[in-house]
Amino acid sequence: MTNGAGQGAPDAGAPNVNDRDASKRQAAMAAVAMVHDGMVVGLGTGSTAAFAIDGLIARVRDGLRIVGIPTSERSAKQARDGGIALTDFSRHPKLDLTIDGADEICRGSLDLIKGLGGALLREKIVAAASASLVIVADEPKLVSSLGGTAPVPVEVVTFGWETTVARLTGLGANPVLRKAPDGTVFRTDGGNLILDCHFGVIADPGRLEQELSATIGVVETGLFIGMAATALVATPSGIVRLDR
Ligand code: A5P
Repeated sequence: MTNGAGQGAPDAGAPNVNDRDASKRQAAMAAVAMVHDGMVVGLGTGSTAAFAIDGLIARVRDGLRIVGIPTSERSAKQARDGGIALTDFSRHPKLDLTIDGADEICRGSLDLIKGLGGALLREKIVAAASASLVIVADEPKLVSSLGGTAPVPVEVVTFGWETTVARLTGLGANPVLRKAPDGTVFRTDGGNLILDCHFGVIADPGRLEQELSATIGVVETGLFIGMAATALVATPSGIVRLDR
């Protein structure tokens, strides 16, 4: 593993799209190696986090003793089915380490866009309770500025969501109501809606996060500012570790 802290990852050329799952698995396994006996571990959501949960399941079967707090119903099921003991905040209000994916990771700041998988609210709650948030990703997720490749998912309550759209539009967004693959309206685990807000490149993600969070009707945003401690990014030349 190389350490690219403060300098960003090497520009390694175009990623091999056919190999993205292998890259995601590599990054996930590097994070799984950071987990030790006795830890309370946050279990992320998405295809990369699912590889990490698989890796933890394998280690638990080999004797690793951990408890996990999942960030979605789907991650809870995967973990439970695989034999990871689950816990909750009443028993474990603090977590040692959370492993999660991201949709964009800003080099240097490690600010994130998350939530294309729809679990941003629970992901942020779990991340905020964790001593360390470790992000796992393949190289296309690493960007110089947030917003260039991904919209910002914004979770909103159903009541009056049309008025929330108008307020978000006033902030410069182009909100799109998220649909499930079957064409029905997408619902989060909390029963809320998601507006995918296209801003283009975001000049000041911290300020935008404050403005979005202060918007009536908004439950949570997919901007994770100053939360990630480490990113493990799989590149063609190996895993690059970025620390904030
Ligand atoms: C889930 O809500 C998201 O925050 C995911 O962590 C993010 O979308 C990354 O997902 P993939 O690992 O599937 O790209």
